[in-house]
Amino acid sequence: MFFTTILSVFLFAGAVSNASPISAQSLIVFSPHITSPKASMIWCAGSTHNVTWDTSNIPAEKRESTGLVLLGYDGRNSENLDIAHPLASSFPISRGFVAVTVPKTVAPRDDYFIVLFGDSGNMSPKFKIRKA
Ligand SMILES: *[C@@H]1O[C@H](CO)[C@@H](O)[C@H](O)[C@H]1NC(C)=O
Repeated sequence: MFFTTILSVFLFAGAVSNASPISAQSLIVFSPHITSPKASMIWCAGSTHNVTWDTSNIPAEKRESTGLVLLGYDGRNSENLDIAHPLASSFPISRGFVAVTVPKTVAPRDDYFIVLFGDSGNMSPKFKIRKA
């Protein structure tokens, strides 16, 4: 269920950003391991944080790829990914970090996560967002 949703989100994101058409190169899937946010971190609405990930295993073919960071939360049968408001997009995946600002209007919850898309999605552990 999760990965099906992730795949459709990726394809959708690719469609709206005019990503290059699927090629043989796209079949090499790189799924970056997220090192921050960590489990049980608390972010405040309106605050800025770096999302960080491991870049040590990026295949040579993927070093020029750009990434996309979406916020989601656990919900009944859904990841509730906020596709309409990416936290970050079009940054180089080889950089290993991107600063994101939590929207001021985000509702406090204990079960947020971010998904970092290289060409396949990778999910962070759950963390909390509180009112500022
Ligand atoms: C994000 O990381 C970069 C590089 O280490 C650093 O310069 C920047 O201050 C960090 N930003 C935040 C919001 O922590």
